[in-house]
Amino acid sequence: MRAMTIAVLVSGNGSNLQAIIDAISAGKLQATITTVISDKPAAYALKRAEQAGIKTHVVLPAHFNTRADYDLALQAILEQYQPKLIVLAGFMRILSPAFVGHYQNRIINIHPALLPKYPGLHTHEQVIANEDKYHGCSIHFVTADLDAGPIIATASLAVPQGANAATLKQKVQQLEHKLYPLVLQWFSEGHISLAGGQVLLDGQVQSATGCAVNLNDFC
Ligand code: GRF
Repeated sequence: MRAMTIAVLVSGNGSNLQAIIDAISAGKLQATITTVISDKPAAYALKRAEQAGIKTHVVLPAHFNTRADYDLALQAILEQYQPKLIVLAGFMRILSPAFVGHYQNRIINIHPALLPKYPGLHTHEQVIANEDKYHGCSIHFVTADLDAGPIIATASLAVPQGANAATLKQKVQQLEHKLYPLVLQWFSEGHISLAGGQVLLDGQVQSATGCAVNLNDFC
């Protein structure tokens, strides 16, 4: 069976990219990363990709007048690779409705909160300020609305007493590094679909908050 092709879009450290690369190397994820694209030339994620022998591209926002032009340039690169799935892993740009429409149901993102709670930035700070008992990460389909697309899966943790934003970020990232490869493998095996804005896992409609994954069952 031909491995699912993915393109990964990044802006920063790339720890999620690394987790995906490692899962592929370990044979836990049947996928091929055909390219990694960044809007930031200094993103460490690019180094990780190069070390893994993956072709990289940088598309600099400063070279474009509008978001639409930027996204067309992104699209032109992606056309060369024909990825089945576009995987956002810390890509810090909002994608235009035209781009999202072009790749409808083929872009996914990981977000460091239990969506629909806390879209956008500073999620860990909000969890602490609100004294939430639980926190975690979500993987969702990308739509034109920020962090608001259909939720595929979440992984959660109990917020420890005395936690701060930095320790929470670290703990949530540990979940992310397990959840992203797992969900990608579900895509690779054809378990996930989307119908009428609802996520289906093996044909079963999931709740609006996606499939709550107990990572202990899988890892
Ligand atoms: C992750 O926490 C992810 O949830 C968010 O951006 C961060 C990227 O981290 N969207 P990394 O670049 O994968 O280390």
